[in-house]
Amino acid sequence: MVETLPPKYEIRNLTFRYGETVALRDISLSIPANQIFVLLGPAGSGKSTLLRLLNRLIDMSGEGRIEAGEVLFNGQSLYTSDVNVAELRRRVGMVFAQPVPLPMSIQENITYGMKLAGIRDQARLQAAVESTLRKAALWDEVKDRLNSPGNALSGGQQQRLCLARTLALEPDVILLDEPTSGLDPISTLKVEEALQDLKQSITIVFAPSSVQQGARIADNAAFLLTSELIEVGTGDVIFTRPSQQKTEDYITGRFG
Ligand SMILES: Nc1ncnc2c1ncn2[C@@H]1O[C@H](COP(=O)(O)OP(=O)(O)O)[C@@H](O)[C@H]1O
Ligand SMILES: [Mg+2]
Repeated sequence: MVETLPPKYEIRNLTFRYGETVALRDISLSIPANQIFVLLGPAGSGKSTLLRLLNRLIDMSGEGRIEAGEVLFNGQSLYTSDVNVAELRRRVGMVFAQPVPLPMSIQENITYGMKLAGIRDQARLQAAVESTLRKAALWDEVKDRLNSPGNALSGGQQQRLCLARTLALEPDVILLDEPTSGLDPISTLKVEEALQDLKQSITIVFAPSSVQQGARIADNAAFLLTSELIEVGTGDVIFTRPSQQKTEDYITGRFG
């Protein structure tokens, strides 16, 4: 019997605008738990806006507003005054296109957030350094130099360090916004493989750097085009036999 978890997010009739620009228009979709959900679409289609709405990072830009609709996280409305935003951002981690390690050692990059969260137990901190670096497929490359500066690593390693740092806070969800766009193919593959393991226990929402990458990793995918949701479905359907002509045109490279 297949176990079905309740959806992690439900987005209902969401319209978001920056001033005159409508960035998301009447979007409704459901993001299943413990799977990889790909947000597909050309530049400007609204992917980053939608990702930043999922952990209320959008609040920090001070720009734009929700004009209509709602976002439910674990069945609870995300945009109400009783949501603890700091706690939400711990539970919903984010990795961006540009890896930005903290200006400290590899292991301190992992333990910094944990210490801020009040964890002092050295054994626990040490265990997290190894386990998160393993999950991010970086351990073997750095285990002999955990005290070296994080920003001395290659770009691909830095990105995996940023993923490990996010994992140290034991998130329920990780949002990744074109996380491999600056990476070499080997590092890209390592990140993709790490995500396949992580989805056992974490919901992953991923804006890919290419259609091909989306096709490799998606369990489910949504195709956005100029702020509208064109189609949502399983990765298999979206990337091989979509029902909408616009999706077909995009995945076959006719535009984008
Ligand atoms: N901070 C902002 N202020 C004004 N307009 C923005 C801002 N961020 C994004 N936009 C606009 O919103 C639309 C969607 O952008 P974005 O979510 O970044 O799309 P994507 O990530 O798919 O490239 C675009 O038209 C973009 O120019
Ligand atoms: Mg973007």
